[in-house]
Order: sequence, then structure tokens, then C-alpha cells
Amino acid sequence: MPYPDVLEKLVSLAKRRGFIFQSSEIYGGTGSVWDYGPLGVELKNNVKARWWNAMVRQRDDVEGLDAAILMNPKVWEASGHVAGFTDPLIDCKTCKSRFRADKLQDAQCPRKPSRHPGEYAECQLTEARQFNLMFKTFMGPVEDSASVVYLRPETAQGIFVNFLNVQQATRQKVPFGIAQIGKAFRNEITPGNFTFRTREFEQMEMQFFVEPGTDMEWFAKWKAWRREWHVGLGLADDRLQYHQHGEKELAHYARAAFDIEFDFGGSLGFQEIEGVHNRSDFDLTQHQSHSGKRLEYVDQANNRRYVPYVIETSLGADRVTLAALVNAYREEAVEGEEEGRTVLRLHPALAPITAGVFPLTKKDGQPEMATRLAADLRKRFPVFYDEAGAIGRRYRRQDEAGTPFGITVDGDSARHDDVTIRFRDDLQQIRVATGRVAEVIASYIASDVPVAEASRVVHP
Ligand code: GAP
Repeated sequence: MPYPDVLEKLVSLAKRRGFIFQSSEIYGGTGSVWDYGPLGVELKNNVKARWWNAMVRQRDDVEGLDAAILMNPKVWEASGHVAGFTDPLIDCKTCKSRFRADKLQDAQCPRKPSRHPGEYAECQLTEARQFNLMFKTFMGPVEDSASVVYLRPETAQGIFVNFLNVQQATRQKVPFGIAQIGKAFRNEITPGNFTFRTREFEQMEMQFFVEPGTDMEWFAKWKAWRREWHVGLGLADDRLQYHQHGEKELAHYARAAFDIEFDFGGSLGFQEIEGVHNRSDFDLTQHQSHSGKRLEYVDQANNRRYVPYVIETSLGADRVTLAALVNAYREEAVEGEEEGRTVLRLHPALAPITAGVFPLTKKDGQPEMATRLAADLRKRFPVFYDEAGAIGRRYRRQDEAGTPFGITVDGDSARHDDVTIRFRDDLQQIRVATGRVAEVIASYIASDVPVAEASRVVHP
């Protein structure tokens, strides 16, 4: 069974619940730029923290970096972006739309019934011309060609130009990596599909510097590790696949490349979420010749020097956040209830709110006990306290936000000093001593087991 197309429903849920809003919405929006609301910023931060933990904190051979967005424009000449970071662009003079010449078969003419560009007899398509995707601006008060700077189209170059700074400061030996998370900008011709392809986005990139000749071995390792990371994020195994780049697809810097693709469902289907590239010594050699500075690694043990090869893993924080939302979205029937529910089955470590805390009624000191518990839990993770309306409604609201644990203070709680924990995915409930709630929840999150399974397996 193919996965359904849930993107339109997600756009509406994301706005309604405060995950993602259109940028500058009151002015009619800005082309394919999005803002993250209160739940969205927590979710994306959790995705980034998980990546940073796996790539930097849990390894002793990868260092962190936060390079600036604005760089010396010579960087982009050396990297090949000024000359070659282009897409072929075609205009339709009839409907005034723009298309990527190499993607005409995937594009739709805006007229109805929709067809591919050029399929209407009166379509007047221009010749393809190369369009550079880098945003330009000016540094300083004078707007002339000498003051042009670019908004970086990838974070990777900030890593290459800092290769020796980091290596010498940390005394790392090859093989080692440098990782960073940061904004990138591309003036995409055909952005779209919500946050899938936007003009401003965040990348999580890592360059792993290796001895030439060992590169394909490291390439294979990183290819496998990065897929495992996505599975650990909760993305369904059968929604992930590799796509190997053929000769014609390879970027100008790449010797070999695999995309990790996720099945976004519907007509979008499998699309790239991460690229794993063998960039050879292309970038360091280019920067070496353009800057006139040696960028060699000195292998003292073997008394030799060389320009390392680079294995790159490159992932869009927004794109993988979208994949996590698509992967989590469900509309379900609930036994014994007429109304179904919409639920985000997010990995508990990603969920913007970890626990909802609810007094069953507003009587018998239940709100006071629940408020105290919520304040206590808030020291460990994000908590939402809610005492308004029917309990079923309150659960449903948290299901829709992806909150994995619902904690209810009921009529027996004061007497026994315990509460119930309701699990979002299978709706099971267990009773737990009030003082142990934080510890129990933390153990479920750390176990990395999906909530539904955890609630079935371990009942501490
Ligand atoms: N440094 C290599 C590089 O930038 P890329 O394949 O162009 O490679 C890497 O981009 C990742 O960045 C993609 O897999 C995707 O997740 C994300 N990405 C690229 N362009 C994007 C866009 N316009 N909007 C959102 N994410 C984008």
C-alpha cells in the first residue's frame, strides 16, 4: 500500500497548532519562506540536538563549528559556486511562469486543466538560460561589484576554510570530522511542497577528513551510519531508501554520492533528505590554490604531508523535520468513541511537549496536586498543564501536538499519592507513584523504543 499524501493536512495542522506559519503572512507571505511557531521551534531544536549529539558529543573524532553566513566572496569562486551553482531556467511568455528546464516533466503549467509546460499549443517557452542560485548582497555602504557578498548556499565551505584552524586547535589526527548546523540560502526556481524546498533553510553538515585511498571505505561507513540515524529518529524503515548518483547526476565536486531518500507519500513519493558525498580533495585543493595558503595535513608519525579527502554528510534540518511530521501523522478511529483522532506519533525525544498534565476534575485539590506535579516535571522536560474542558478533549489536543505522555490526577491520586500515565500511541494507562513520574518518563525516552511498544513491554 503506498503511503497517503498528508502534506495538505499537515500544512493546516501546522498552522492551527503553531508548528509552522507562512513567513510575513499578513502581507501575503514571502515566496517559500516559513516561520516556526512555539511547537515547531521545539521540534526542530530537538531534531538538531539529536544530530549534534550523535555527530559531535558522542564521538571523539568529530569537532563542532559555527561559521558565519557571510564569507569572503573568493570562497565561492574557489568552490565553483560562482561559475557553476546554476539551474537551467525557462520562462513561459504565455502564462508568465518559470520552470527548471531539466525538470519540465515534473512541472505543472498553472493553467487548468494542468499539463506539463509547453503542452498547450499557445505556450511560448524561451530558450533555457543558466540562473545562479546564490543570493547576492553588498557589504558596506557602497553598492558596487567590489562589495558583492553572497548568502552562503551551503554551510560546508565554512568548514573547509577552517580545516586547519580546527585541526591545529584540537590536535585531531586524520581521520576526523568537523560538523556544523546553520542557515543556507538558495534562490530556488521551483521551491515548494511546504518546507521541503525553500529559499532559506538550515543545514546540518559534517565533513570527515580522511587519508586518500581510505575514502571509499569511510564513505561506505558514513552511508550506513547516517541511514541508521534516520531510523533512530523514528522514520519507518520501509520509507527510507538509498539512491546512488549516476555519472550525470554527480555534483561538480563529487567522486561518488548517495542520497538517503524518504517516502513523503502520495505523488511526491521518495525524495532526498540527506546526501552522503565523497568530495575527494576537490575543495581543499581549490581553496589552497585560490588563497595561496597550504591546506595540507602533516602526518608526523609517517613523516608525510597530504591534502585529505573529504566524506560529507549533508542534511536539511527543515526537510528532516518535515519527514518526521509526515512519518508521524495519523488519522485513527478510537475504540468506544464516535470521534476519531488525529495524532502525531513523533519519537518521544522529538515531541515538542513531553507530557500533558491534567486534573480529572477541578475539585478535591486535584488542580493543586496537578499544578505541583507539572512544575516539578517542567524542570526536566517541556510540560503542558490543562484543566479546561472534558478530559477526552484535552487528550485529543495533546495527541495532535504529538505529546507522548498524558498524566492525569484523579479522585484516588491524593489518597495513594499516585497518578496515571496514558501513552499516546496505544492509549494504555499505568498507575505510577507521583514521585516516580519524571524518572519513568525519562527512562521511556532514553530507551529509544517507540511509545506504543514501551508501554506494552516495560511497566516499571
Ligand atoms: N554541501 C552539500 C550540499 O549542500 P545538497 O544536496 O545541495 O548538498 C544537502 O543539500 C541537503 O540540504 C539536502 O539533502 C536537503 O536536505 C537540504 N536542502 C538542499 N536544498 C534545500 C532547499 N532548497 N530547501 C530545504 N532543504 C534543502
